[in-house]
Amino acid sequence: MMIDRDALKRAAAARAIEEVEDGMILGLGTGSTAAFVVEGLAARVRAGLRITGIPSSERTAEQARRLGIPIATFAEYQQLDLTIDGADEVELGTLNLIKGLGGALLREKIVAAASRRLVIVVDQEKLVDRLGEHTPVPVEVTRFGWQRTAAALAALGCAPVRRYAGEEPFISDEGHFILDCQFGPIADPALLERRIADTVGTVESGLFIGRTSMVVAATTTGVEVLSPPPRTR
Ligand code: 5RP
Repeated sequence: MMIDRDALKRAAAARAIEEVEDGMILGLGTGSTAAFVVEGLAARVRAGLRITGIPSSERTAEQARRLGIPIATFAEYQQLDLTIDGADEVELGTLNLIKGLGGALLREKIVAAASRRLVIVVDQEKLVDRLGEHTPVPVEVTRFGWQRTAAALAALGCAPVRRYAGEEPFISDEGHFILDCQFGPIADPALLERRIADTVGTVESGLFIGRTSMVVAATTTGVEVLSPPPRTR
């Protein structure tokens, strides 16, 4: 059966937007699912909702501006009420995430860390039993010495591949390279996140551990809302 993934993403976005209240300072995610959220928010803004968005990428900032959503930066606000963002994999049970196939993981993690709540919108294809089943862990690294950093990451049990955008290496909004690190199913994502963070030359990884407040997952049989286990946010 052919699944209309855009319809699922749109359904998840619509449910997540119900979490938004008037006056909120809102983190705006990045990616094709987050773009549906921004679209839906713009419709509510046109209907009178007052929000201020902090975009997690230049791409999202451009979309928000174009659709008339007021945006700000961390110069004005350091505490956000809510962030709604997509993910590449959601681990069932823990709701830990892999993010960053869209290349915005660093800003996304900064925005998520500044938010009281992080709501993740996905379609059913993103739900996995173990992180790393389908997706590499994107790792943002400095351009200087990236080959040395890649060798150090390889020693953690992966084969890092530098990401390209067409013919040229992909450069993040913060000016870094991204190494996609395929680990396979990850037994201890929290430990791996710490090991990557301890590797000199890495800036941030796409492992989001204990940050999720709620997952809105659209499936062919309806929209499901998942909560994290106690102790994570
Ligand atoms: C970008 C991200 C995105 O949230 C993630 O890649 C999901 O994107 P999409 O909704 O297009 O599948 O982490 O850095």
